[in-house]
Amino acid sequence: MPKITFYQHEPIPMEMHKVKIVQQLHLLPAQQRLEKMREAGFNTFQLHNGDIFLDMLTDSGVNAMSDRMQSAMLVADDAYAGSETFFKMQRKLEEIFGIHYCLPAHQGRACENILATRFVKPGNCVIMNYHFTTAKAHITRLGGRVEELVKKEGLVSHSDLPFKGDIDLEALEACILREGPENVPFVRLEAGTNLIGGQPISCANIEAATEICRKHGVMTVLDASLLQDNLYFIKTREPEMRDRTVREIARKIADQFDIIYFSARKFGFARGGAILVRDEALFHSMEDLIPMFEGFLTYGGMSVKEMEAMTVGFDESMDMDVISQGPQFIDYCVRRLDEYGIPVITPGGGLGAHIDVKEFLPDVPQEQYSAGALACALYICGGIRGMERGTLSEEREPDGTERIASMELLRLAFPRRVFTLSQTEYVIDRVKWLYDHRNLVGGLRFVHEPATLRFFTGVLEPVSDWPEKLAAAYRADFGDEQ
Ligand code: F0G
Repeated sequence: MPKITFYQHEPIPMEMHKVKIVQQLHLLPAQQRLEKMREAGFNTFQLHNGDIFLDMLTDSGVNAMSDRMQSAMLVADDAYAGSETFFKMQRKLEEIFGIHYCLPAHQGRACENILATRFVKPGNCVIMNYHFTTAKAHITRLGGRVEELVKKEGLVSHSDLPFKGDIDLEALEACILREGPENVPFVRLEAGTNLIGGQPISCANIEAATEICRKHGVMTVLDASLLQDNLYFIKTREPEMRDRTVREIARKIADQFDIIYFSARKFGFARGGAILVRDEALFHSMEDLIPMFEGFLTYGGMSVKEMEAMTVGFDESMDMDVISQGPQFIDYCVRRLDEYGIPVITPGGGLGAHIDVKEFLPDVPQEQYSAGALACALYICGGIRGMERGTLSEEREPDGTERIASMELLRLAFPRRVFTLSQTEYVIDRVKWLYDHRNLVGGLRFVHEPATLRFFTGVLEPVSDWPEKLAAAYRADFGDEQ
């Protein structure tokens, strides 16, 4: 429920900020968008931003900064070693999470590289509530394997469960015992579980899961990249936590983990990352990897200006007025799409609205990357760039067969404080048009398929001339100008 309600109007999300600097947008006509999509190899990652009207690819590194974050950049302390900016950032993180040791890294996947390099040996099994693409890629690169033990209800797309990111506690204990604790270098819990629709994990589940790990002597790692959304959901959906402040909840969560890492492209609303380590000896055992891969220990590949900004961003992430913006816009979008009968992941989570493409395009097989195809279709029909989160984002099995994703999603990210309600309405409108014309959307196939993280750089083509037919139907309804 938004903080401010109306006298006559239904409740709608209310921005608790005002616009100070803007970036002009351009809407190319549909026919040109079709050409741009072809040039981009039917991969939305390969589009140029100038050709996009609403960029809903991600919230990573594209959240709007506040005036306080921007002004903090001016006092950044430039130093290769010993920058005061680093110590300020470290103190802020310690204040929030109660963990002193901090290894800076240039972004989230760099933290994942450091953690995997230090802890994962061939044959090891890393247990997670759900994987994230880059976290898994680093583990498998080192000969490890990932077990995903999110509760099975978490994968049901239409639901009213408040915490679909919860891990199955029985399965967790059974897996540790089956693998043997010595073969499980760590259990990684992801806040705001990205690939299943930004769905939160409850504080109670975190406490119970980490308790099991402690019992068996297994190290616990929190991926806090999407923690700000998860904190909002814990405060609003977990009755036992309602009367606690956001800071108290953050601290209660942090207290359960040996290591916390995050992408500051998400947590902190800037660009960077860090690994927080509770134990001094553990910290020293990873320390040497930072200068080798990232940069000196007091900047880790980040610009000090960004570090100053994110230090303010961490504080803002403890403010309900700030962290409620994303979930409330997403909830609005999800409810409106749901009312139109469009299959979306419910309840709305963090990060973005997620369309269930298995239901949206039941006739396009997942082997033809249906979520990737829908992402291309939405760019052609509206200039909106979303991100495929499905089979295309998976890696092939060792024998070369497709690994079919359990969830085939098109994600429409809501970078924080970026889009207005009228832009949100435009997105809902174009998705509805596309839903009413879904029989015109076909599949994709690879022209060039990279061996890892193929969704970033892969080149694809449509299996038929469906994009031309789709663009023609769109122009028939909206004219040649839009
Ligand atoms: N963990 C989670 C939960 C993430 O969502 C991401 C990135 C990372 C780790 C890696 O962080 O990008 O700074 O290297 N998610 C982005 C996204 C890419 O669009 O969802 P990074």
